[in-house]
Amino acid sequence: MEKNRKILTTSSGMPIDNNQFSQTAGAKGPVLIQDFALVDKLAKFDRERIPERVVHAKGAGAHGYFVVTNDVTKYTKANFLSEVGKQTPVFTRFSTVAGERGYADTDRDPRGFAIKFYTEEGNYDMVGNNTPVFFIRDPMKFPDFIHTQKRDPKTGLRSSQAGWDFWVQQPEAFHQLTVLFSNRGTPDGFRHMNGYSSHAYKWVNADGDEHYVQYHFKTDQGIKNFTGEEATKMKSVNPDYATEDLHNAIENGDPPSWTWYVQLMPVVDAETYKFDVTDITKVWPHSDYPLIEVGKMVLNRNPDNFFAETEQSAFAPTHMVPGIEPSNDRMLQGRLFSYPDTHRHRLGANYDQIPINCPYRARAAHYQRDGPSTVTSNFGGLPNYEPNTLGGPVADPKAAWSTPEVTGKVGRHDFGTPDDFVQPRALYKNVMTEEDREHLIKNTADHMMSVTKDIKEKAVKIYWQIDPDYGERIAKAVGVDVPKMAKI
Ligand code: NDP
Ligand code: HEM
Repeated sequence: MEKNRKILTTSSGMPIDNNQFSQTAGAKGPVLIQDFALVDKLAKFDRERIPERVVHAKGAGAHGYFVVTNDVTKYTKANFLSEVGKQTPVFTRFSTVAGERGYADTDRDPRGFAIKFYTEEGNYDMVGNNTPVFFIRDPMKFPDFIHTQKRDPKTGLRSSQAGWDFWVQQPEAFHQLTVLFSNRGTPDGFRHMNGYSSHAYKWVNADGDEHYVQYHFKTDQGIKNFTGEEATKMKSVNPDYATEDLHNAIENGDPPSWTWYVQLMPVVDAETYKFDVTDITKVWPHSDYPLIEVGKMVLNRNPDNFFAETEQSAFAPTHMVPGIEPSNDRMLQGRLFSYPDTHRHRLGANYDQIPINCPYRARAAHYQRDGPSTVTSNFGGLPNYEPNTLGGPVADPKAAWSTPEVTGKVGRHDFGTPDDFVQPRALYKNVMTEEDREHLIKNTADHMMSVTKDIKEKAVKIYWQIDPDYGERIAKAVGVDVPKMAKI
């Protein structure tokens, strides 16, 4: 045996005499169940896969830090933002949404942009996307929407028909569709895209003043996208393009960074603002609410082990810190339930004990105990009930949330008749260049080509209402007339 090499063992630590041949009863006889070296190896292998994320299954992560560059204490009491220069370790994971764990990185899709800030007040997770808006605004629609992006129940194939069938019945989706079918839907890797909270959250300062807040993480590498053709080609050249690009940049000493900006709106202003600021299909125009710098995130260390860190990372919008609170955005409220729920299913009830998820800078102190895969000391002999007279942890009223008033009848309320077209119109007409528009029309038409005529016509009708030029160009590209009704 070579010197300095450790002895191979079973998972229980028993030395193994031979890792090439199973124990058999005689040279030609059956394999013996007593061979724990074999049974242990096979049983562990049988259980290697955990459920993949139901969405955002394919992704890549990296460690780094966040540093505050601007004083925002008049807006939030969040301790990790309490002084300029303060640094907080982070783990960030980027992802595509619809494809499975082995899917191609350059697929047309929003990209997930999830940051775990390991703060002294517990982990703060910012679970956003590279798009500032979303397809729907009620969590009741989310599983249906995602089913349209997954595989057809009969054929096992992905189908554009399902997506467009769903979207033409959700006109509010067309803002996100205008972003998604622009070249921003196929970013050149993860380093060249922005991240957005998409939702409004609430920031509360030490005096209790409340602001709605939108987050923008702007890439310091600059926005860079693939065209539709380049992205499709890259799927076969290197399906792991974005994962490799992120890894190599960090490995080669070129750590990517993002500057964090916020838009802030006093909560009282929201009551009279021109649209519902908790509607995730809307952005806040920069001219009304300019960007305010907060700090910089730098990703400078690759994970040592993809499964332990990236695959087992668990981000939840529920993981907040004092000074940061949810808004009444219905989608956000739905997500507050969904993420820890899926983590208990995907990783187990004690998912927060896994090192990558552990709030290690906060020293969690509570009365929750036991459960499968308890891998900590389980709080040793400390009391497991409260109130107690034994010196156990107690609640701190200073951590109380703001106390918004809520009135009205319980019910399944619709959203009324908001103008869902003014913002995609602004994007199409005022923000995009003619070249952007040409790519947008081509990318949209390529995706819609196999869709039935009735659905194409419904889509064109919506595009025409957003902007007649938009509708007419899509109609021409997909080979249908602009329906007469659209022009009324
Ligand atoms: P502005 O002109 O102030 O902002 C437009 C923003 O659009 C830019 O700052 C940039 O934001 C983003 N952008 C630029 N090119 C593209 C593109 N090809 N595809 C998608 N986004 C692009 O106007 P408003 O704030 O009034 O917004 C006008 C429209 O711009 C909105 O209706 C929305 O569709 C879109 N938009 C607005 C954002 C916002 O937060 N206000 C954010 C992103 C898009 P960035 O640097 O963040 O990419
Ligand atoms: C992942 C649900 C909307 C961003 C997930 C996961 C679920 C989920 C179940 C898998 C999590 C895991 O296994 O760890 C929902 C529901 C939504 C919703 C129910 C709406 C009601 C959104 C929106 C955004 C978003 C609006 C962005 C603004 C993400 C990201 C991930 C994710 C970035 C991947 C996190 C990671 O890297 O692990 N979502 N989602 N989701 N979601 Fe959502």
